[in-house]
Amino acid sequence: MNNTIRLLGVIGDPIHHSLSPFMHNLAYAELGMSDRQYLPFHVRAENLTAAVRGMQALGIEGFNATIPHKEQLVPLMDELDPMARLIGAVNTVVIRPDGGLIGYNTDGYGFLTDLRGLFTEPLHDLEILVLGAGGAARGVLAALLQAGANRIGLMNRTHDRAVTLAQEFSRHFPDRRVMPVPWTRTLPASRLVINTTSLGMDSSGETVPDLSGLPESALVYDIVYAPPLTPLLAAAQARGLQVENGLGMLIHQGAKAFEIWTGQPMPVAAVRRGLKEQRGVMSLVV
Ligand code: ATR
Repeated sequence: MNNTIRLLGVIGDPIHHSLSPFMHNLAYAELGMSDRQYLPFHVRAENLTAAVRGMQALGIEGFNATIPHKEQLVPLMDELDPMARLIGAVNTVVIRPDGGLIGYNTDGYGFLTDLRGLFTEPLHDLEILVLGAGGAARGVLAALLQAGANRIGLMNRTHDRAVTLAQEFSRHFPDRRVMPVPWTRTLPASRLVINTTSLGMDSSGETVPDLSGLPESALVYDIVYAPPLTPLLAAAQARGLQVENGLGMLIHQGAKAFEIWTGQPMPVAAVRRGLKEQRGVMSLVV
């Protein structure tokens, strides 16, 4: 019996669907870190501050955050990593031994690392289209701009949010073009299309965008990973385009958090294998 357990976890509402506990515990087992455990905590929005204070008091070493907490965590942090500040959201927190809270955001890193494995061309010459203007779009946008992207269209159902977001990031990156694009069914010609909306999560016949304007070399990336082939990705695949879902992004954002907490790289290949096996079972319920 080990009585010096080092506890980490993930907070969210809902939380039952999160793959993070499986992913981190598998990595601990793989690396023989038997003193660590990673648990899911169901925390409602109104209990966020109390939950964070409780974790500090209990000596929990850190946590991930998912919907609806990422933005609300920002003012609770004692220190903010520059990427978390740029994105305006925190998904990974280190609780120092003295209780100090350091906020990071690894979502953009996760996206970019996965993208780089699929797509090695320099980003600065490419027409890129980002669908959505919420928290997930902010992470993707920050990562693309930091990686040198220069021509990004932002398309959102509520156009005003795309305008506001484009203005904000244009202030941070004044030499780049981040342009709001009207929400139309036919997507404008772009080499890289990234969907950050929940548009694809249910396959009940929502209108899928018309992809006929995309070049044959286009990559369509959906940050959703359940279902693995969203209606958008299915349409892109039917057109013969390269497609990718968000499983790699999930793994790499987790890998970065793992490294922040443990100082060691996550065994990404083993985690990917484990998740694929796990999802084979889970696909019955997601
Ligand atoms: P997240 O943190 O996941 O990005 P969010 O901040 O609530 O969540 O943003 C959700 C995004 O998905 C928004 O861009 C939203 O569009 P609106 O700004 O118009 O609400 C988009 N979205 C959600 N459901 C959608 C749907 N059925 N069709 C198109 N866009 C949708």
